[in-house]
Amino acid sequence: MTMLDQAPSARETPLLEVKDLAQRYTLPRESLFKPPAQVNALNGVTAQVKAGRSLGVVGESGSGKSTFARLVMALERPSSGSVSLLGRDLNQLPSDELRRARRDFQMVFQDPYGSLDPRQTIARIVAEPLTALGRIDRAALRERVATVLRQVGLRDADMDKFPHEFSGGQRQRIAIARALITQPKLIVADEPVSALDVSVQAQVLNLMQDLQDQFALSYILISHDLAVVDLLCDEIAVMYLGRIVEQARPEDLFAHSAHPYTRALLDAVPRARAGRVRRRRGAQLVASQSSAGVGCPYAPRCPLADQHCRETAPALRSVGPAHLAACHHAEAVMALPPAVAEAG
Ligand SMILES: Nc1ncnc2c1ncn2[C@@H]1O[C@H](COP(=O)(O)OP(=O)(O)OP(=O)(O)O)[C@@H](O)[C@H]1O
Ligand SMILES: [Mg+2]
Repeated sequence: MTMLDQAPSARETPLLEVKDLAQRYTLPRESLFKPPAQVNALNGVTAQVKAGRSLGVVGESGSGKSTFARLVMALERPSSGSVSLLGRDLNQLPSDELRRARRDFQMVFQDPYGSLDPRQTIARIVAEPLTALGRIDRAALRERVATVLRQVGLRDADMDKFPHEFSGGQRQRIAIARALITQPKLIVADEPVSALDVSVQAQVLNLMQDLQDQFALSYILISHDLAVVDLLCDEIAVMYLGRIVEQARPEDLFAHSAHPYTRALLDAVPRARAGRVRRRRGAQLVASQSSAGVGCPYAPRCPLADQHCRETAPALRSVGPAHLAACHHAEAVMALPPAVAEAG
């Protein structure tokens, strides 16, 4: 398969289309006399990914990034809304068709230690998405495993080893090989490098970039680190409490961020990198989520919030070419000097 196999028109139709996606979880009951609490992990997310393009998803811990990934992968059914891959609604497909459709989208998880079964050989682990699709000749399978291992910078001989024989970075290469084996069009990567040392992170991201160029792959790349998504993505969506609050091309997001929350994320980057952005959640999240019946969900934390913000929730609206933001004060925020340049 090469890019030439795709007609130009096929490249224009969205590879992935997510509409009004919402997911509500019911938490375990704390008391027999109270109804169980519910979390709106995802609150009406709409997004598109064109073939060969990539979308970065950023936001602090608990903002709904992994929930979004699981729904895109059809690992869970949404409470409402739809996920369509090449025009087919994944949640409407009969299970055998969904199984076949899985060839086109694969996932890479964060934890390179937890996500590979320690009792299986690399050959088996990497082959699994392909064997799950149906019977395949053993020799052909080993040949295909060898090919993808080479594509991620590992050797044929690594096939018969076990996960514990590899470093974190190598394990993430194995996870990527496993995702590549079905020749997917989309790879959803949930924090693929955040468990790795910084130097190793760069190697894995470079590999992902090479693969993207080589196979015209699309990524949905989830990270709390804006620098990571900047490298690989054509577009970045910023999530807050289960909603996309801003979406733009990386250069526009960095130079003209239109949402105060994006500003806060960018401000936090040069000072302490990821750690700081990640840790701010806990009680705050729960408190603002439960009190956020009306008004802008970010208002309780927003330095610009006024009465209007507390009373009326802003819709995600166009604030420039291919630039969306959900803020009543977006124009004022965009007029501020860039957050990154200031701090750098
Ligand atoms: N299976 C579940 N049952 C109950 N609540 C859940 C479940 N999965 C997620 N949540 C809640 O939904 C919200 C969003 O969680 P999610 O894991 O999607 O966030 P995240 O952005 O991936 O966070 P992190 O950066 O920590 O990975 C959180 O409040 C979380 O506690
Ligand atoms: Mg997550």
